[in-house]
Amino acid sequence: MHDLTEQKAQINPVLVGLMGSGKSSIGRRLAKYLNVELIDLDHYIVEKDGRSIPEIFAQEGEPFFRRLENICLREVLGKPAVIATGGGVVLSEENRQLLRAHPPVIWLKASPHFLARRIHGDSNRPLIAGDETLADTLKRIESLADERYPLYEACADFTLPRGDMKKPEALNAIMVFLTHWGGE
Ligand code: S3P
Repeated sequence: MHDLTEQKAQINPVLVGLMGSGKSSIGRRLAKYLNVELIDLDHYIVEKDGRSIPEIFAQEGEPFFRRLENICLREVLGKPAVIATGGGVVLSEENRQLLRAHPPVIWLKASPHFLARRIHGDSNRPLIAGDETLADTLKRIESLADERYPLYEACADFTLPRGDMKKPEALNAIMVFLTHWGGE
């Protein structure tokens, strides 16, 4: 594993990427290694609001969720932590500016096939919860990818082309990036 002993106290990576790309699980491992907490933005939102993500979407609609997401993002950025964001955080220009102001932002870029297989049938993800078949979820993810890839790209200091890469390998690639990243 790459040694970040000198720098690691100042590094607060923010992970972005589509649903299922491993932001929370890789974020947890990264936080452990950097010896900081993991803030999972979706969990933070759920704690603040008191309802689950599907409940917020169903009862209040997506625009309400996005406003809450923006408020919570502003609250957590800058904390000594690894932050795992929700897949749609980059939709707002304000959020993208906030992310760019808090580097390093790391984009976990996985293939739509990989993501669809991982998340199909997950009732906790309202954007795909109604999908009957894996093909429906794949179509949905491909359309989210078309819309969001340029937005992730616009924010990211580092893109990890994860493909089907396993988590330890992905973590190692992030470590290599962080070792060379100057904090600019
Ligand atoms: C969303 C992704 C989810 C969650 C919400 C909306 C999205 O987070 O914020 O369901 O728009 O892609 P994960 O990316 O952690 O699944």
